[in-house]
Amino acid sequence: MSLIRLDKFVSVALNISRADTKKILRDGKIMVDGVSTKKGDFKVDTETMVVKQGTEKLEYKEFIYILMNKPSGILSASNDKRAKTVVDIIPESLKRDGLFPVGRLDKDTTGLLIITNDGDFAHKVISPKSNIEKVYLAELDGDITNEMIETFKVGVVLADGTRCMPAKLERAGECSALITIREGKYHQVKRMFGTVGLGVNKLHRKSIGSLSLPEDLKMGCCVELSQQDLQKI
Ligand code: URA
Repeated sequence: MSLIRLDKFVSVALNISRADTKKILRDGKIMVDGVSTKKGDFKVDTETMVVKQGTEKLEYKEFIYILMNKPSGILSASNDKRAKTVVDIIPESLKRDGLFPVGRLDKDTTGLLIITNDGDFAHKVISPKSNIEKVYLAELDGDITNEMIETFKVGVVLADGTRCMPAKLERAGECSALITIREGKYHQVKRMFGTVGLGVNKLHRKSIGSLSLPEDLKMGCCVELSQQDLQKI
Protein backbone atom coordinates (compact mmCIF):
# COMPACT_ATOMS: atom_id res chain seq x y z
CA MET A 1 0.00 0.00 0.00
CA SER A 2 1.33 3.45 -0.89
CA LEU A 3 -0.70 6.30 0.62
CA ILE A 4 -0.38 9.94 -0.38
CA ARG A 5 -2.55 13.03 0.09
CA LEU A 6 -5.03 13.73 -2.68
CA ASP A 7 -3.81 17.35 -3.12
CA LYS A 8 -0.23 16.13 -3.64
CA PHE A 9 -1.43 13.46 -6.08
CA VAL A 10 -3.36 16.01 -8.15
CA SER A 11 -0.67 18.68 -8.13
CA VAL A 12 2.02 16.18 -9.23
CA ALA A 13 -0.17 14.41 -11.80
CA LEU A 14 -1.29 17.67 -13.42
CA ASN A 15 1.99 19.53 -12.67
CA ILE A 16 0.06 22.49 -11.23
CA SER A 17 0.52 24.78 -8.23
CA ARG A 18 -0.96 24.18 -4.79
CA ALA A 19 -3.35 27.12 -5.34
CA ASP A 20 -4.64 25.67 -8.63
CA THR A 21 -4.94 22.23 -7.01
CA LYS A 22 -7.07 23.68 -4.21
CA LYS A 23 -9.37 25.31 -6.74
CA ILE A 24 -9.85 22.14 -8.78
CA LEU A 25 -10.62 20.18 -5.62
CA ARG A 26 -13.01 22.87 -4.35
CA ASP A 27 -14.85 22.79 -7.67
CA GLY A 28 -15.50 19.07 -7.14
CA LYS A 29 -13.73 18.09 -10.37
CA ILE A 30 -11.66 15.30 -8.88
CA MET A 31 -13.15 11.82 -8.55
CA VAL A 32 -11.61 9.07 -6.43
CA ASP A 33 -12.96 5.63 -7.34
CA GLY A 34 -15.96 7.34 -8.93
CA VAL A 35 -16.76 9.65 -5.99
CA SER A 36 -16.21 13.43 -6.15
CA THR A 37 -13.68 14.17 -3.41
CA LYS A 38 -12.89 17.71 -2.25
CA LYS A 39 -10.65 17.06 0.74
CA GLY A 40 -6.96 17.71 0.05
CA ASP A 41 -5.89 15.52 2.97
CA PHE A 42 -7.85 12.49 1.72
CA LYS A 43 -5.37 9.58 1.55
CA VAL A 44 -5.07 7.96 -1.87
CA ASP A 45 -3.69 4.44 -2.20
CA THR A 46 -1.77 4.88 -5.46
CA GLU A 47 -1.69 1.11 -6.05
CA THR A 48 -5.42 0.45 -5.90
CA MET A 49 -7.40 3.71 -6.27
CA VAL A 50 -8.33 5.43 -9.51
CA VAL A 51 -8.22 9.23 -9.54
CA LYS A 52 -9.88 11.07 -12.42
CA GLN A 53 -10.42 14.65 -13.50
CA GLY A 54 -13.69 14.34 -15.38
CA THR A 55 -13.09 11.31 -17.61
CA GLU A 56 -9.28 11.67 -17.67
CA LYS A 57 -7.42 9.20 -15.46
CA LEU A 58 -4.59 10.91 -13.57
CA GLU A 59 -1.22 9.20 -13.22
CA TYR A 60 0.93 9.87 -10.17
CA LYS A 61 4.65 9.57 -10.82
CA GLU A 62 6.71 10.35 -7.76
CA PHE A 63 9.96 10.74 -9.70
CA ILE A 64 10.89 12.27 -13.01
CA TYR A 65 14.04 11.62 -15.04
CA ILE A 66 15.01 14.22 -17.62
CA LEU A 67 17.73 13.91 -20.22
CA MET A 68 19.24 17.24 -21.30
CA ASN A 69 21.69 18.10 -24.02
CA LYS A 70 23.51 20.57 -21.79
CA PRO A 71 24.73 23.71 -23.53
CA SER A 72 28.02 25.42 -22.72
CA GLY A 73 27.80 28.36 -20.29
CA ILE A 74 25.12 26.82 -18.06
CA LEU A 75 25.90 25.70 -14.51
CA SER A 76 25.24 22.07 -13.42
CA ALA A 77 23.31 23.03 -10.28
CA SER A 78 19.72 23.46 -9.08
CA ASN A 79 19.97 27.18 -8.42
CA ASP A 80 22.56 29.88 -8.30
CA LYS A 81 22.36 33.57 -7.42
CA ARG A 82 24.39 34.74 -10.42
CA ALA A 83 24.51 32.10 -13.14
CA LYS A 84 21.80 30.34 -15.12
CA THR A 85 21.52 26.67 -14.12
CA VAL A 86 20.45 23.51 -15.94
CA VAL A 87 17.28 23.43 -13.81
CA ASP A 88 16.46 27.03 -14.86
CA ILE A 89 16.33 26.01 -18.53
CA ILE A 90 14.05 22.95 -18.13
CA PRO A 91 10.71 23.54 -19.88
CA GLU A 92 7.74 24.20 -17.54
CA SER A 93 6.02 20.96 -18.62
CA LEU A 94 8.87 18.91 -17.07
CA LYS A 95 9.61 21.13 -14.05
CA ARG A 96 9.05 19.71 -10.56
CA ASP A 97 10.12 20.62 -7.05
CA GLY A 98 13.44 19.19 -5.94
CA LEU A 99 15.12 18.71 -9.33
CA PHE A 100 18.92 18.42 -9.41
CA PRO A 101 21.55 17.22 -11.89
CA VAL A 102 22.93 13.70 -11.48
CA GLY A 103 26.62 14.53 -11.12
CA ARG A 104 28.14 17.62 -12.62
CA LEU A 105 29.42 18.67 -15.99
CA ASP A 106 31.71 21.70 -16.03
CA LYS A 107 30.13 24.98 -17.11
CA ASP A 108 31.81 24.75 -20.52
CA THR A 109 31.10 21.01 -21.02
CA THR A 110 28.20 20.05 -23.27
CA GLY A 111 26.13 16.91 -23.76
CA LEU A 112 24.25 14.25 -21.86
CA LEU A 113 23.08 15.27 -18.40
CA ILE A 114 20.37 13.58 -16.36
CA ILE A 115 18.24 15.73 -14.07
CA THR A 116 15.91 14.13 -11.54
CA ASN A 117 14.21 14.44 -8.15
CA ASP A 118 15.14 10.84 -7.22
CA GLY A 119 18.06 10.92 -4.78
CA ASP A 120 18.53 7.13 -4.57
CA PHE A 121 18.78 6.84 -8.33
CA ALA A 122 21.31 9.69 -8.51
CA HIS A 123 23.40 8.11 -5.78
CA LYS A 124 23.51 4.78 -7.65
CA VAL A 125 24.55 6.42 -10.92
CA ILE A 126 27.24 8.62 -9.38
CA SER A 127 28.82 6.01 -7.11
CA PRO A 128 32.14 4.70 -8.50
CA LYS A 129 31.04 1.32 -7.12
CA SER A 130 28.38 1.23 -9.85
CA ASN A 131 31.16 1.06 -12.45
CA ILE A 132 29.05 2.85 -15.07
CA GLU A 133 30.91 3.91 -18.22
CA LYS A 134 30.70 7.53 -19.34
CA VAL A 135 31.94 8.41 -22.80
CA TYR A 136 33.21 11.88 -23.68
CA LEU A 137 34.37 13.39 -26.95
CA ALA A 138 37.29 15.71 -26.32
CA GLU A 139 38.71 18.27 -28.72
CA LEU A 140 42.35 18.67 -27.79
CA ASP A 141 45.20 21.06 -28.49
CA GLY A 142 47.31 18.19 -29.85
CA ASP A 143 47.12 14.62 -31.07
CA ILE A 144 46.99 11.60 -28.81
CA THR A 145 49.76 8.97 -29.10
CA ASN A 146 49.78 5.21 -28.64
CA GLU A 147 51.78 5.77 -25.47
CA MET A 148 48.97 7.89 -24.03
CA ILE A 149 46.44 5.19 -24.89
CA GLU A 150 48.55 2.71 -22.89
CA THR A 151 49.00 5.13 -19.98
CA PHE A 152 45.23 5.71 -19.75
CA LYS A 153 44.61 1.95 -19.96
CA VAL A 154 46.79 1.33 -16.90
CA GLY A 155 45.31 4.23 -14.89
CA VAL A 156 46.49 7.83 -14.93
CA VAL A 157 47.94 9.38 -11.77
CA LEU A 158 46.71 12.99 -11.50
CA ALA A 159 49.00 15.89 -10.55
CA ASP A 160 47.85 15.69 -6.91
CA GLY A 161 48.72 11.97 -6.73
CA THR A 162 45.16 10.65 -7.15
CA ARG A 163 45.09 7.42 -9.12
CA CYS A 164 42.30 7.09 -11.68
CA MET A 165 40.70 3.81 -12.68
CA PRO A 166 41.76 2.43 -16.06
CA ALA A 167 40.22 4.42 -18.92
CA LYS A 168 39.80 3.77 -22.62
CA LEU A 169 41.25 6.33 -25.00
CA GLU A 170 40.54 6.20 -28.74
CA ARG A 171 41.48 8.50 -31.57
CA ALA A 172 38.35 10.16 -33.03
CA GLY A 173 40.07 12.43 -35.55
CA GLU A 174 42.87 14.96 -35.76
CA CYS A 175 43.27 16.46 -32.26
CA SER A 176 40.14 14.73 -30.99
CA ALA A 177 39.59 11.63 -28.90
CA LEU A 178 36.91 9.53 -27.26
CA ILE A 179 37.57 8.79 -23.62
CA THR A 180 35.61 6.29 -21.50
CA ILE A 181 35.82 6.61 -17.74
CA ARG A 182 34.03 4.85 -14.87
CA GLU A 183 34.22 7.52 -12.18
CA GLY A 184 33.55 11.24 -11.90
CA LYS A 185 36.31 13.08 -10.09
CA TYR A 186 36.38 16.87 -10.21
CA HIS A 187 37.44 18.01 -13.74
CA GLN A 188 38.56 14.43 -14.26
CA VAL A 189 38.88 14.30 -18.04
CA LYS A 190 40.64 17.68 -18.28
CA ARG A 191 43.03 16.71 -15.49
CA MET A 192 43.74 13.31 -17.08
CA PHE A 193 44.70 14.92 -20.38
CA GLY A 194 46.72 17.49 -18.42
CA THR A 195 48.99 14.70 -17.13
CA VAL A 196 50.04 13.91 -20.73
CA GLY A 197 50.48 17.57 -21.66
CA LEU A 198 47.25 18.01 -23.63
CA GLY A 199 44.72 20.80 -23.12
CA VAL A 200 40.99 20.20 -23.67
CA ASN A 201 39.41 22.84 -25.91
CA LYS A 202 35.94 21.29 -25.92
CA LEU A 203 34.34 18.46 -23.97
CA HIS A 204 31.05 16.75 -24.81
CA ARG A 205 29.46 13.79 -22.98
CA LYS A 206 27.99 11.28 -25.41
CA SER A 207 26.70 8.51 -23.16
CA ILE A 208 26.23 7.06 -19.68
CA GLY A 209 26.09 3.25 -19.69
CA SER A 210 24.29 2.36 -22.88
CA LEU A 211 22.10 5.47 -22.72
CA SER A 212 23.28 7.76 -25.51
CA LEU A 213 22.40 11.33 -26.24
CA PRO A 214 19.87 11.24 -29.10
CA GLU A 215 21.47 12.71 -32.26
CA ASP A 216 18.43 14.90 -32.90
CA LEU A 217 18.21 16.42 -29.39
CA LYS A 218 19.23 20.04 -29.87
CA MET A 219 21.56 21.82 -27.47
CA GLY A 220 19.57 23.06 -24.43
CA CYS A 221 16.64 20.71 -25.13
CA CYS A 222 15.25 18.02 -22.84
CA VAL A 223 13.25 14.80 -23.04
CA GLU A 224 11.67 12.75 -20.28
CA LEU A 225 13.30 9.33 -19.87
CA SER A 226 11.12 6.22 -19.71
CA GLN A 227 11.72 3.26 -17.37
CA GLN A 228 13.07 1.45 -20.45
CA ASP A 229 15.64 4.22 -21.00
CA LEU A 230 16.68 4.03 -17.36
CA GLN A 231 17.41 0.31 -17.69
CA LYS A 232 20.18 1.26 -20.13
CA ILE A 233 22.23 2.98 -17.43
N1 URA B 1 35.58 15.72 -16.82
C1 URA B 1 35.85 17.05 -16.89
O1 URA B 1 37.01 17.45 -16.83
N2 URA B 1 34.83 17.89 -17.02
C2 URA B 1 33.54 17.50 -17.12
O2 URA B 1 32.64 18.33 -17.26
C3 URA B 1 33.27 16.12 -17.06
C4 URA B 1 34.32 15.25 -16.91
